[in-house]
Amino acid sequence: MDVFRNRREQLINNIHEIKDNDLIILFSGFESSRTSFRPSSCAYYLTGIEDSGVVITIAKSGRMQAFVPRYGVDRGLWCGSRAVDDAWWKQAGFDSVNYLGEKISGYSLGMPIKEQSVSNLLDSLKKTVSQGGQLLTLGSLHKNIGNEQYIFMSQLAMLDSKISESFFDISETICEMRRIKDECEKEALKRAVEITVAGQHAAACAIKPGLAECAVRGAIERGFLLHGALRCSFPSIVATGKNATTLHHTSGQKVLENGDLVIVDVGAEYGFYAGDLTRTYPVSGKFSDRQKELYSAVLEAQKAAEKAAKPGMFLKNAKESAKSLHHIALKSLSTAGLEKFFLHGVGHYIGLEVHDVGDILQPLEPGCTFTIEPGVYIPDEGIGIRIEDNYLMTENGAIRLSSGLPREIGDIENIIAS
Ligand code: GLY
Ligand code: MN
Repeated sequence: MDVFRNRREQLINNIHEIKDNDLIILFSGFESSRTSFRPSSCAYYLTGIEDSGVVITIAKSGRMQAFVPRYGVDRGLWCGSRAVDDAWWKQAGFDSVNYLGEKISGYSLGMPIKEQSVSNLLDSLKKTVSQGGQLLTLGSLHKNIGNEQYIFMSQLAMLDSKISESFFDISETICEMRRIKDECEKEALKRAVEITVAGQHAAACAIKPGLAECAVRGAIERGFLLHGALRCSFPSIVATGKNATTLHHTSGQKVLENGDLVIVDVGAEYGFYAGDLTRTYPVSGKFSDRQKELYSAVLEAQKAAEKAAKPGMFLKNAKESAKSLHHIALKSLSTAGLEKFFLHGVGHYIGLEVHDVGDILQPLEPGCTFTIEPGVYIPDEGIGIRIEDNYLMTENGAIRLSSGLPREIGDIENIIAS
């Protein structure tokens, strides 16, 4: 809880424009009937909240309030929710917990939001606005920063136009904080990567001709669950043959065939942090000469980018190509004449989201966590190859967190064989 408190203090210090009567607003997210609930990343990052439907306001003084739906049924009976646990709110540093508004039916907050079900919150926000305060929120649809919150705030704005006129977007400030991981985050991420490594081992053990892509996925996700990862950090990609030339082919019913390769690009989520590792395996257990040639070129490109990964380098920056890991990987692939088959960026930040927030045009700094994942995709040959590892930047260069997962041709063939 101290970690979350420190982050809130740091955020308040970092928002230069914040005034005494402004309020930071966070929303923990809506529940869906298709997937288990996961709190929105920024709300979790700043408070540790794991419960749905909660609005949190934070003042410059640090005073923190929660507004929770007034459910029409005993939510604890259905969800064992933290919302019913008085001790948690206190321990988490909330100064008060109020109802959002009048009673709603059922045990979860759905859309559209009705005025009466958020009337207390609206009253509080109107009071802030009438006193000249701004509502500091994740006001942009910045990829992965807070779409849930954006939707919730848009719903409030429809109920009261004065409220929307007082929105002030603090996305960039939070993104920059989240770009540099603290010790707690590094630990969660390391565990997510370890479990993802275990999932890759499970894939390597399962792969054999005649098995469907989705069956390989089953082995991987079973591995994640066995190791305590409650969900995947993104839909698992198991793509064989020509499917591997579709960058985000999610596992389907195509059967693995001798002679083909299979891309396995998967991530376990642990403590809400995302692993993201890719390996490319030969279904038969042996790479053909052509597959070896292409695989070696991709591996060389990854190693070239990895070796260059030091503080001050960029993931991708066309204006500073000598310092750009993307361009270093591209140059390496061009020595084998393969640059035109490299169809995506060399990597991305990882954290609470698999494609984590943070300005990619900022140089890498100690505390940044990211992927390096070159690939080549040649539909005419029915071949896609990608190799992806996860890294933590330190003062002395990038540490490969996934070094426990083999990537050399001989080692890959050995784990399939064993
Ligand atoms: N692992 C999926 C991606 O990075 O896009
Ligand atoms: Mn990735």
